Amino acid sequence: MKPSEALLVTQSVTASRPAEDSRPRTVLNETTLGVDAGELLAIVGPSGSGKSTFLRLLNRLLEPDSGTIFLEGQDVRTVEPPLLRAQLPLVAQKPYLFSGSVKDNLFASSRLRRAQPPDISGDSFKKLLAMCQLETDWLGRDARKLSIGQQQRVCLMRAILGPCKVLLLDEPTSALDRPTADQLALTFRQLCEDKSLAIIFVTHDLRVAERCADRVALMQAGSVIECGSTEEVLSNPKTEAARNFLSLDTAEKQEQLNE
Ligand SMILES: Nc1ncnc2c1ncn2[C@@H]1O[C@H](COP(=O)(O)OP(=O)(O)O)[C@@H](O)[C@H]1O
Ligand SMILES: [Mg+2]
Repeated sequence: MKPSEALLVTQSVTASRPAEDSRPRTVLNETTLGVDAGELLAIVGPSGSGKSTFLRLLNRLLEPDSGTIFLEGQDVRTVEPPLLRAQLPLVAQKPYLFSGSVKDNLFASSRLRRAQPPDISGDSFKKLLAMCQLETDWLGRDARKLSIGQQQRVCLMRAILGPCKVLLLDEPTSALDRPTADQLALTFRQLCEDKSLAIIFVTHDLRVAERCADRVALMQAGSVIECGSTEEVLSNPKTEAARNFLSLDTAEKQEQLNE
């Protein structure tokens, strides 16, 4: 994928993190991976394979050792971080909400960027609320008193309210029960279709990836070992490492994640 052709693409990105002896250790190796508008890419792989690191590099929560990341053909280092993070918002595994109401949280990003606050009586705001399954009369509620599933949806809405181009989700369904996770997977699909944005989500839940992803990238030890259509990668993996990972059951994967 040429940088000018993809919506968001990394080109040979390498990153390191400090190991126990404090020396940097490479945790992501020459990774080239991208998404197009409207596309949903799932990143799967064992714990420690570099999935979260990859997401954090995209909006510069971490800086790579080498390689470049392009958003609409432009090096992300040329974009001011608050704008970049509004264009590439990252929703973490555990919902993080500020103290205050749901509305305070939804307005946080525009406040930070000194941008126009969202028009809560407008149709597009109401449509997003409905899509994220949030009720209008929850806006005044204490955000931190909502259930985890509800908090997750507030985080999602907060992320897409701004000028979001690619939504980055780190294990978005891991704290949710199965029906709630399936519903959220549907919301992701809808978002890609309605907002013409792209989504990159990291998951250990292959069922969710199967339900909604267009493409799957499988990571192992800091490298993408397979990438292709969801069907191709999940049903017909080419490498033995991929076959081994895919044959582990969900409980084992969850264990790996919790290690
Ligand atoms: N803050 C950190 N400090 C040091 N090492 C880290 C840090 N975060 C992640 N790592 C290491 O980087 C590697 C990749 O981690 P991560 O990207 O979190 O993997 P994944 O999301 O696939 O579980 C792991 O070996 C992990 O121990
Ligand atoms: Mg992770």
